[in-house]
Amino acid sequence: MIQKPRGTLDILPGESKKWQFIESACRKVCKKHGFGEIRFPTFEETQLFARGVGDTTDVVQKEMYTFTDRDGTSYTLRPEGTASVARAVIENGLAGGTMPLKLFYIINCFRHERPQAGRYREFYQFGAELFGATSPSADAKLILLASDFLKEIGLKNISLHINSIGCPECRSVYRDALVKYFSQKKEDLCQTCRSRLETNPLRILDCKSPICKGIAADAPKTIDYLCQSCKEHFDGLKERLSEVGIDYTVDCNIVRGLDYYSRTVFEFISEGIGAQSTVCGGGRYDGLVSQIGGPELAGIGFAAGINRLVLSMENGSSFKDEEEGPDLYIAAIGEKASVKANGLCAKLSDLGIVSETDLVGRSLKAQMKYANKIDAAFTLILGDGELQTGRAQLRNMKTGDQFDVSPDDIESIIKIVKREGV
Ligand code: HAM
Repeated sequence: MIQKPRGTLDILPGESKKWQFIESACRKVCKKHGFGEIRFPTFEETQLFARGVGDTTDVVQKEMYTFTDRDGTSYTLRPEGTASVARAVIENGLAGGTMPLKLFYIINCFRHERPQAGRYREFYQFGAELFGATSPSADAKLILLASDFLKEIGLKNISLHINSIGCPECRSVYRDALVKYFSQKKEDLCQTCRSRLETNPLRILDCKSPICKGIAADAPKTIDYLCQSCKEHFDGLKERLSEVGIDYTVDCNIVRGLDYYSRTVFEFISEGIGAQSTVCGGGRYDGLVSQIGGPELAGIGFAAGINRLVLSMENGSSFKDEEEGPDLYIAAIGEKASVKANGLCAKLSDLGIVSETDLVGRSLKAQMKYANKIDAAFTLILGDGELQTGRAQLRNMKTGDQFDVSPDDIESIIKIVKREGV
């Protein structure tokens, strides 16, 4: 038996309603905030992610699905959306257009991680990116968009954690302070963090190992090393978040796993879904566009993990599973009635009435049982007698009321079906 790849999901109709609910919340909130949808390729040249996301990140070093195609080019299935969006902005000449540029996307992403609850190898993101604005108002706008979106889904127990990791100048001073601090504790760090000490010491701050966590608790804090301008930017963001009534916690351990961030970084954490509790993460990336060959163009964005949001919905959300059967089931007995029923169904569906008839050769009794099972609001029985007399019984399955109708009088059938509260 061939099975789906490890860490991927089949999403069946009952479950996919939750996904549709989330996706329509994305679209609704993006429309409200003036973000337009962008679609882009599932795979890109590998060097886009190596340069954009960063050579030293776990994503690039360990998790990418990279392949050489038949022409010998190295491509990678997108592990995230931001680098691709930045590439598309440059390639399509949007960087020279009116700013700010506000884009959103709903995509699948691929990372070869160890699968567990909330962590998959193919997963889905709703992301939003805003280009061409450096002011803290843009950061606040993006966080407000994410917060509105989470509110729209109605999730409970979500908290916002923010931090500033400074600009390249102040971060390099901070980096030195971190290296100095962690070097003294090097022997106690986990294997991965010992190598992070050389490559990416900020990442030690969000290591999951309890020993590293303990050591990181007393490490120098980013916000104590911010230059004046980064400090003012961060203060400006906090002021604006308070003004729009968004609660937050300053959390100096939020450093994010991708290299393109500068200044603001943030995460929305959901309680009660286990270790993979970050449902949304983002930040500012003022150097990314130039890093991948474009002009100097500031950017800020976030991505929310749709799989994790679906898991969080089990703890409460505004999603209501309104299981609805068809408006009408036409039970047909015999070949002639079946032809008639097929025609009637097609005409009714053109006029917005959801109807079904037998497709698998059930007996009349079995058809009525099936109509009950799929929760049809009305049934209509068509047999030889009905075809001869030109009259049939339309039955309201809830009240038991019967209506004598002509199977050719579609208007009357629709009128009854609609009037009776379908
Ligand atoms: P990220 O933190 O790598 O950021 O991913 C964003 C969100 O995607 C995570 O918070 C999580 O909910 C979800 N996610 C990540 N990996 C997995 C996985 N293996 N399985 C399930 N869900 C996952 C980014 O991707 C950035 N591009 C976000 C961004 C946009 N920053 C600026 N603009």
